Amino acid sequence: MAPRRYDPIIRRHVEFKETRRVPIRPAGDVLDKSKPDLGQSGAMDIVTLQRLCARSWPGLEQDWLGEWELRAADGFTGRANSALPLGDAGLPVPEALDRVVEWYTARGLTPRLQVPAARPGVSDGDPASGVAALCDARGWAAEPWTLVMLRSAAPSATAGVQTAALRWSDEPDDAWLSLYHRAGAQLPSVARRVITAAPAQYLSVRLDGDAVGIGRVALVEELAVLTAIEVTARERRHGLGTLITEALTARAADDGARLTALQVFADNAAAVRLYRRLGFRTHHQYRYRSLSDG
Ligand SMILES: CC(C)(COP(=O)(O)OP(=O)(O)OC[C@H]1O[C@@H](n2cnc3c(N)ncnc32)[C@H](O)[C@@H]1OP(=O)(O)O)[C@@H](O)C(=O)NCCC(=O)NCCS
Repeated sequence: MAPRRYDPIIRRHVEFKETRRVPIRPAGDVLDKSKPDLGQSGAMDIVTLQRLCARSWPGLEQDWLGEWELRAADGFTGRANSALPLGDAGLPVPEALDRVVEWYTARGLTPRLQVPAARPGVSDGDPASGVAALCDARGWAAEPWTLVMLRSAAPSATAGVQTAALRWSDEPDDAWLSLYHRAGAQLPSVARRVITAAPAQYLSVRLDGDAVGIGRVALVEELAVLTAIEVTARERRHGLGTLITEALTARAADDGARLTALQVFADNAAAVRLYRRLGFRTHHQYRYRSLSDG
């Protein structure tokens, strides 16, 4: 019988499995090998993909409300400071939402949910439609959609520029951080801890000694999750984005990845086009819902 613990949020005992309380099947077990296009939603269900991605960027504090995952990290990045309302919260959704509000308010953070949804026209079940409907009813603000894109981790035929030097590290150096979101010195002090909260490899690309691009890849089970793909404005459209994306994927494939996922704003036309060209297909989407002040 699974051990039980008292959950102070839902105020009852729940079963849990050692440190990981929500079981996740290894990515390899949920692949539908009969589907030639791994970008189809049959490759992996939305909940599994969301949970694996969450482990690649976990924030600094995690808690569980039943199967809902609550994350906080001093407000740095949406993923690290939002609840993932997947599965059974262990209490009715309206009460669960109230508890989320309490949890974030107690930390001085805006109550926020990362709410995944199937793409319009895709017949897959929507894993959080009840939550989305309640957010609508309660007037929670909706942020723009982000696409979760998926591809096989096998290298593609596309090559990037050949002359750039690639530097790998298991932690970001100052040059890497200075390119992250072009924020440089303005990154909050907590940023490094949030970015490095999960084991990952950091790629810096240099041209003539200057750092011109970065990327990060975290391997979770057999899924490689790519983040922080950025090229300095002056060097764009010369193949560096392609080089970085392929290099991150190849690195993860060497380490045993079978699938590669990434998240990109739906309205980031340049990045979406780049990823589509490299074989990524939209699996599902999500958007943040937050309790507005007014
Ligand atoms: C997205 C980004 C990484 C692309 O880097 P890049 O070095 O310009 O990419 P590439 O030169 O390899 O482009 C490959 C293809 O992507 C597409 N693409 C890239 N930028 C594009 C743009 N501005 N408009 C339209 N298509 C674009 C094109 O198909 C391009 O091929 P082409 O130049 O032969 O037409 C870069 O624009 C960037 O750093 N943007 C800001 C950060 C960001 O949004 N990162 C993605 C976060 S998920």
